[in-house]
Amino acid sequence: MGIGVVLLLGLLPDLSFAAAFKAQYYTVCPTCDLHPVRGCSLKDNTAPFNLTARRQFAKKHDNLVFGYMQDMAAFSAAVLSVQQLKLGIQGAVGEIGVHHGLFFFALAAAARPCEPLIVIDVFADQQKNIDSSGKGNYNTFRGHAQRFGLTTKIVQQGRNLVGGSAGGPPGTIVTFASASTEVTPSALCAASGHSGVRLFSIDGGHTPEVVYHDLTLLNCVLLDGGLLFMDDYTHSYWAGVQDGVGRFFHLHPNHRLVPVAVVANKLIITTESHHRVYREALITEFRRIGARHVGIHEMKQRLFGWPIVVWDHAPSPDQKTLTERWATLLTTAEHDKARRAKGNTTTRKLATPPQSSWSWLG
Ligand SMILES: C[S@@+](CC[C@H](N)C(=O)[O-])C[C@H]1O[C@@H](n2cnc3c(N)ncnc32)[C@H](O)[C@@H]1O
Repeated sequence: MGIGVVLLLGLLPDLSFAAAFKAQYYTVCPTCDLHPVRGCSLKDNTAPFNLTARRQFAKKHDNLVFGYMQDMAAFSAAVLSVQQLKLGIQGAVGEIGVHHGLFFFALAAAARPCEPLIVIDVFADQQKNIDSSGKGNYNTFRGHAQRFGLTTKIVQQGRNLVGGSAGGPPGTIVTFASASTEVTPSALCAASGHSGVRLFSIDGGHTPEVVYHDLTLLNCVLLDGGLLFMDDYTHSYWAGVQDGVGRFFHLHPNHRLVPVAVVANKLIITTESHHRVYREALITEFRRIGARHVGIHEMKQRLFGWPIVVWDHAPSPDQKTLTERWATLLTTAEHDKARRAKGNTTTRKLATPPQSSWSWLG
């Protein structure tokens, strides 16, 4: 190839994935000054999601809320949430792509009364749902939330802040009626009451680009020991999810996330610091409920370099055992004991405090 051709090629725009989404790479996160969740009364065991509602959800969620969730996913969230409480980690709980709220309510059932709840969905703005993954409906979601004693407060519609400062009293779900790509880490940090994010599901857009974006967004605000549930990781109809996740783990220059498990169609992700403790917690609980075909020690392969627990497309444990243990985790001694034991102490830092040179969306 002649030197002229090489030079000419050099002038052409770089059409690679990285270049196309360079503007959305949160390689450098804005500062998110963290402090403990305000108004965390350990005696308050009623809001945002009271015990009766938790039991009701654990036992009958299928009849109450239409959505996409396997019980083992919600069960794993409860197991890991108890571990977080034992470690004194507190922060926001929420979801991108909430639809009618099925998995979100499973996460909210594991939240402390004081912890901020956050959801992001395009809702009525379905032209922004570019791959037609589900169809969120704000009124339906709000109606379900009310049944569980929760209220919703829209703080952003599209790119515009509509609710002034994000946040609200306990039991308020801070709601972004926006595409996730319109939500900045700063806005998410503010919505968390500057507590950072403890437990979050990603189930919005399923294209590689949006998935990559959502991981970079959460990477900026996830606490040490925070957990992400990336939906449809093993769903062959939504191959874009694997693509986006793979690109994130391989291409992102300075993220702090590691995979810890693949359970019931979800990739569970945490920070490197807590990989071992969560992996062991899942192994212990899966054995306890008699889940069969759980890939643990015998698994020689690693995902992005990390050993993972795998429970997927395998025979379920006995449904009664699973539901009872789930309700126990969420409603009784273990959850509340863990909460009381730790009081307000918490892990309040982001592993690599990113310097502010936030440019995306100005
Ligand atoms: C598969 S559904 C979510 C299911 C839900 N997590 C559950 O537990 O049933 C996907 C949702 O993502 C929303 N959505 C699609 N693209 C989005 C985007 N870019 N940002 C935010 N929400 C999006 C859709 O409106 C839909 O409600």
